[in-house]
Amino acid sequence: MPRAAKGEIPLIGGLIFDLDGVVVDTSELHYQAWKRLAAELEIAFNRADNEKLKGLSRLESLDSILLLASSYKHRSKIAARFGKMELAEIKNSWYLESVRKLAPKDILPGVERFLIESRQHGIRTAIASSSKNAETVISSLEITHLFDRVIDGTRVADSKPNPQIFLIAAEEMNEKPSSCIVLEDALAGVRAARLAKMRCIGIAPDSTFLPADLVIPGFSNFGIEDLFGFDRAKPEI
Ligand code: G6P
Ligand code: MG
Repeated sequence: MPRAAKGEIPLIGGLIFDLDGVVVDTSELHYQAWKRLAAELEIAFNRADNEKLKGLSRLESLDSILLLASSYKHRSKIAARFGKMELAEIKNSWYLESVRKLAPKDILPGVERFLIESRQHGIRTAIASSSKNAETVISSLEITHLFDRVIDGTRVADSKPNPQIFLIAAEEMNEKPSSCIVLEDALAGVRAARLAKMRCIGIAPDSTFLPADLVIPGFSNFGIEDLFGFDRAKPEI
C-alpha cells in the first residue's frame, strides 16, 4: 500500500464502519446468547455454526439455527410452542445483558485512534450495522461522538448483502458512494459494499478470506496514511 507523503491528505470523503467484528468483538456475546437459546430448544449449536451468522439479521440468524434442529418433527415441536419473534426477543434480552457490560476497554485495538485521526483529516465517519442494538453498543463503548451518522438494522428492510444500508450512510454524510470506503469483517458486508460501488477494506486474520480491495487483520498497525492508495485504486465491481 503506498503511503502518503508527510502532510498529504487522502481525498476520501467518508468511512463507513460495520460494527460487530470491526469496532468491537460482539461475536462471542451473540454466540453465548444463541447457544443458550439453542440449548433450551435442544438444538446442537457450535462456534462453527455461529461463524455463518456474521452479518445476518437477528431473524435470519434464528432461521439458520432452527434449520439445525435434528428433524422436521423437532422443528414442528418448537414451532408449536414458540413464535419466531418471541424466540428472537428472548435471545436479544440475553444478548443485551452482556452488551450493557461493554466498556471502552472492549473497543478493538487501534480503532479509536484511527477514528480520531480520520476525523482530524476532515473525513466523515458512519456506522452501518445490521444490528438493531448498534446505538446501545456504541454508547456502552462511549464512542458515539466519533460518528457523524449511525445507520442500524432498524433503518433497512433487507440486510447485507443488500447495499441499501451503505447507500443511506453515504447519502446522510453527503458523500458520493465512490468517495466512501467500507470497513467490513463479513462476506455479506463486502458484497454489499461492492453492490454499493464503494471501495472496501476487509477485516480478517487471513488476507485470502475476504474479496475486498485490501484485507487487514485489524487497526493496530493501520493509520490514515495507509488509506492513501485508495485514492487511485480502481475497485473491481
Ligand atoms: C450484525 C452481526 C450479526 C447479528 C446482527 C443483528 O450484523 O454481525 O451477528 O445477528 O448484527 O444483530 P442484533 O443486535 O440486531 O440482534
Ligand atoms: Mg461484522
